Amino acid sequence: MTTLDSTFTFKRGLQLKNRLVIAPMTTKMSFFDGVVTTDELDYYALRSGEVGAFITAAANVHESGKGWEGELGAYDDRFIPGLAKLASAIKKNQTKAILQIFHGGRMTSSKVLGGEQIVAPSAVPAERPNAETPRELSEEEILAIIDGFKQATRRAIEAGFDGVEIHGANTYLLQQFFSPHSNRRTDAWGGTLEKRFKFINEVVDSVTAAVDESGVKNFVVGYRFSPEEYEEPGIRLSDTLYLVDQLAEKPLDYLHLSLNDYRRVSVSEEYKEQSILAYIHDKINGRLPLIGVGDVRTRQDAEAILENAELSAVGRAVLIDPHWAQKVLDNKEDLIRRELSIYDKEELKISNGVWAFLQGMMPERLEE
Ligand SMILES: Cc1cc2nc3c(=O)[nH]c(=O)nc-3n(C[C@H](O)[C@H](O)[C@H](O)COP(=O)(O)O)c2cc1C
Repeated sequence: MTTLDSTFTFKRGLQLKNRLVIAPMTTKMSFFDGVVTTDELDYYALRSGEVGAFITAAANVHESGKGWEGELGAYDDRFIPGLAKLASAIKKNQTKAILQIFHGGRMTSSKVLGGEQIVAPSAVPAERPNAETPRELSEEEILAIIDGFKQATRRAIEAGFDGVEIHGANTYLLQQFFSPHSNRRTDAWGGTLEKRFKFINEVVDSVTAAVDESGVKNFVVGYRFSPEEYEEPGIRLSDTLYLVDQLAEKPLDYLHLSLNDYRRVSVSEEYKEQSILAYIHDKINGRLPLIGVGDVRTRQDAEAILENAELSAVGRAVLIDPHWAQKVLDNKEDLIRRELSIYDKEELKISNGVWAFLQGMMPERLEE
């Protein structure tokens, strides 16, 4: 069995000192324009140095892609100095720094975009309360966003990151192009499953081109995706298995399956025999390494993920206890802090925005 403390080397040469990864989590701490703040640097530094890799909060690659206030920006060269500080805050004791890059698509509001109408593959609002109707992106705008992913990757390289993760999960723009709910286009960017994959395919190509053109060594590119949607029509696990099959043939370094619980079983009747994680791992069949995630709280959870993945990511447990990883690696689990008190918020550098988010996501682990 693979142990948590064994090293891992990606195809592009980057080596991780162990199998633990900090999952991408927005901090809601950046300045209004996306520049990293000192508090945010402290948040990362507090938690880094123990895991193999630390994936940052989602950073938007284009102004039209801002999803919420306090979000990190990567859409202009003026962000490079701040991103460089962020990379160096993470890179201690050999922990590798990976910048997550994304575009929010329809999952935002005109208020966040300074009065501009939100954009998406098609003019279909998300199924959530108060969702605004987006404007359909033009071909020219689509190409500009694809280039935005490329430029953000170049900035990540210049800033000293060890890699980027393309955020194709959690209902944001890349997933919106793949979904038959949000993508109703009849041109080259929509229609069949193959056409709905086109945007993802071109984003991956533009990101890997940025890496090749820069000549940087050991810089990795990962892709994060969500397995299924509840909307009708929506992405089903069978669609995702097609996606994974395509992505496994691309020059990527890893895939990352976004789940809130790594044990989750599909809603589709034909995929009930094992966990979604196991189906995805089987489909990849060794072509690329997989990161699993979702409700890891103990060493046993992190090891259980390694039965169906090469790396194990952890999010909320590290918010609650910044030294969760070292305590797990040292077999000192009894010392792990497992609940978050409102009185610890300042010490743990947890912003009001994240606290409010956690109130909805895990009220049972908060003490107010
Ligand atoms: C506060 C918070 C912010 C998050 N922000 C992001 C994000 O920016 N990008 C992303 O891909 N996932 C994001 N996620 C999802 C996590 O990466 C992870 O998949 C999820 O929390 C499940 O893992 P966990 O149970 O270990 O927390 C966020 C989760 C939390 C709790």
